[in-house]
Amino acid sequence: MAAGGRAPEPRVLACLGALLAGWVAAGLEAVVIGEVHENVTLYCGNISGPRGLVTWYRNSSEPVFLVSSNSSLPPASPRFSLVSASSLHIEALSLQDEGNYTCQEILNVTRWFHVWLQVASGPYQIEVNISATGRLPNGTLYAVKGSQVDFSCNSSSWPPPMVEWWFQAWNSSGEPFGNNLTVSSFTLLLMSPNLQGNYTCLAMNMLSGRHREVTTELLVYSPPPAAPQCWAEMSSGSFMLQLTCRWDGGYPGANFLWTEEPGGVIVGKSKLGVEILNQSQLSDGKKFRCVGSHIVGPESGASCVVQIGGPSLLSEPLKTCFVGGNVTLTCQVSGAYPPAKILWLRNLTQPEVVIQPNSHYLITQNGQSSTLTIRNCSQDLDEGYYVCRAENPVGVREVDIWLSVKEPLNIGGIVGTIVSLLLLGLAVISGLMLYYSPVFCWKVGNTFRGQDMGDVMVLVDSEEEEEEEEEEDAAEEEEEGNEREELPKERAKHNHIHRVTALVNGNIEQMGNGFQDLQDDSSDQQSDIVQEEDRPV
Ligand SMILES: *[C@@H]1O[C@H](CO)[C@@H](O)[C@H](O)[C@H]1NC(C)=O
Ligand SMILES: *[C@@H]1O[C@H](CO)[C@@H](O)[C@H](O)[C@H]1NC(C)=O
Ligand SMILES: *[C@@H]1O[C@H](CO)[C@@H](O)[C@H](O)[C@H]1NC(C)=O
Ligand SMILES: *[C@@H]1O[C@H](CO)[C@@H](O)[C@H](O)[C@H]1NC(C)=O
Ligand SMILES: *[C@@H]1O[C@H](CO)[C@@H](O)[C@H](O)[C@H]1NC(C)=O
Ligand SMILES: *[C@@H]1O[C@H](CO)[C@@H](O)[C@H](O)[C@H]1NC(C)=O
Ligand SMILES: *[C@@H]1O[C@H](CO)[C@@H](O)[C@H](O)[C@H]1NC(C)=O
Ligand SMILES: *[C@@H]1O[C@H](CO)[C@@H](O)[C@H](O)[C@H]1NC(C)=O
Ligand SMILES: *[C@@H]1O[C@H](CO)[C@@H](O)[C@H](O)[C@H]1NC(C)=O
Ligand SMILES: *[C@@H]1O[C@H](CO)[C@@H](O)[C@H](O)[C@H]1NC(C)=O
Ligand SMILES: *[C@@H]1O[C@H](CO)[C@@H](O)[C@H](O)[C@H]1NC(C)=O
Ligand SMILES: *[C@@H]1O[C@H](CO)[C@@H](O)[C@H](O)[C@H]1NC(C)=O
Repeated sequence: MAAGGRAPEPRVLACLGALLAGWVAAGLEAVVIGEVHENVTLYCGNISGPRGLVTWYRNSSEPVFLVSSNSSLPPASPRFSLVSASSLHIEALSLQDEGNYTCQEILNVTRWFHVWLQVASGPYQIEVNISATGRLPNGTLYAVKGSQVDFSCNSSSWPPPMVEWWFQAWNSSGEPFGNNLTVSSFTLLLMSPNLQGNYTCLAMNMLSGRHREVTTELLVYSPPPAAPQCWAEMSSGSFMLQLTCRWDGGYPGANFLWTEEPGGVIVGKSKLGVEILNQSQLSDGKKFRCVGSHIVGPESGASCVVQIGGPSLLSEPLKTCFVGGNVTLTCQVSGAYPPAKILWLRNLTQPEVVIQPNSHYLITQNGQSSTLTIRNCSQDLDEGYYVCRAENPVGVREVDIWLSVKEPLNIGGIVGTIVSLLLLGLAVISGLMLYYSPVFCWKVGNTFRGQDMGDVMVLVDSEEEEEEEEEEDAAEEEEEGNEREELPKERAKHNHIHRVTALVNGNIEQMGNGFQDLQDDSSDQQSDIVQEEDRPV
């Protein structure tokens, strides 16, 4: 054994080499794969039955004795032992144990067996680095839509591992990103929502088949594209104010904080952006600010402001309707935010009665303007006060409108009026002539005195008719309060009449008084006229 084993002679080794070459050529070479830290057993051939004297060598630069079935020869290291009287057992493998091993069996003949031991190591762990990303409190990573994300996967193993990246979107099967034995990183330049999912890095030791994988969930977040929007409205059913803030289009949803402005008193915080306020928290002109915050939005958030306001009302206080006719009352609301609810009421009783639309009452609302049309007016039923009420959670306003119902004008009255107007026109023309040519008047004054007297008579007549007309006018004024434009015309007529009268009488003072009486709303022009007229006198 000393010759053949521990210190093999060159001849023997040459023979051994030739034999081994033969085995290898015949494809009988055994390959055993072990892993570091593990134990491995190398068999001395595939033979059952009694074995001869077995000696194991390591075939490095020159054969090194390891262990023998001759118990008087101790193993080269306690890591080596012989099991079943023929197999080499190596404990706690290391990478240095990789190599070719030879077993020599001496029975009737000496046989050689060759074993190639390969040692693999790892991978035992994988380090995945995905940047630049943020980390949620639960550990999940998120990237911003449109950003660049680098993925790298590191694992140590011998021989170097094959690294594969797999991507699995929500509810879809995984797809490989290709594998490369040398490169284990890649970059996604423009993150988009369809790249949200699970990224798996798989590292496999191709020798041992040992593999490790790490799955990382990556969310792709995007901030809302536009500014937040906020508004106030009446919460349905009750007179509470509902503040709503919306900031759509981002992922995930934003968070909202409503505060009072100024002061910053917090009204509420929510994911919904809706707050309900009762009337005690409201006042005219008060402002509320909503700040929307998004995990990948601007750090200070984005905000919008609403200013609430109570309603103001604009309406005509007086309206007239002819019996059997139609009349429309209008009520215009301004300054109300949120928009006011507009109601029409009759205050015949207390509490007031809300007018319901029917064949008699037609209510139309256009924006913040409401009209009440009363059809087929009747004096008994419809004359009286109407109330327009506008209310929102900030305030309530009411305005009273008096509706008077009149009998329509008779034909006689109309004819009378027309005649009066004609006469009045005549008188005005005469007056104007006298006014613009007073010299002519003086010159022919005596000649035409009689006629002048007649004029005076006519003028006095017209004045009387004027008075009648005035009464009618007064009635008309009430009836058609909105037709104010006519009033100045009427007043102008009076002035001319009085002036003419005074000239005829030659009493300037009276004339002046006449003016003053009617000069409540006369213009400066008229006082100029008085002065001019002084001179000829
Ligand atoms: C290796 O073998 C030794 C003794 O034969 C044993 O104590 C040890 O647990 C084994 N190790 C492994 C990893 O099997
Ligand atoms: C040993 O040889 C037998 C047949 O002779 C074969 O069936 C068996 O698979 C072999 N075992 C090994 C480990 O090669
Ligand atoms: C064993 O080692 C010897 C000497 O280094 C070498 O010539 C021979 O080719 C080796 N055999 C095998 C199978 O590696
Ligand atoms: C076992 O080894 C011892 C010491 O080298 C030697 O004297 C003895 O002859 C060997 N026995 C056999 C059967 O080879
Ligand atoms: C073991 O021998 C084989 C040929 O049989 C050779 O290809 C391989 O490189 C050898 N291994 C070592 C570690 O020398
Ligand atoms: C080895 O010797 C035994 C007897 O000692 C014999 O029975 C056997 O056939 C022999 N084997 C070979 C391969 O010569
Ligand atoms: C991950 O990679 C980035 C650059 O790609 C580097 O700055 C960072 O330190 C790495 N993190 C870890 C834990 O390796
Ligand atoms: C972590 O939180 C995010 C957002 O709430 C969720 O989408 C994700 O599924 C969570 N991940 C785990 C592992 O719980
Ligand atoms: C990613 O993996 C986790 C854990 O297996 C699973 O809960 C989650 O739904 C997966 N996400 C996707 C997008 O497949
Ligand atoms: C692996 O990556 C390297 C470097 O990018 C490249 O040269 C090689 O062709 C790649 N191999 C495969 C199989 O893709
Ligand atoms: C009043 O209105 C109704 C319905 O719009 C219409 O049929 C009727 O002719 C109107 N009456 C008058 C007097 O305008
Ligand atoms: C209706 O309102 C008017 C104006 O406010 C008021 O003078 C009148 O007394 C009220 N009528 C009733 C019945 O309350």
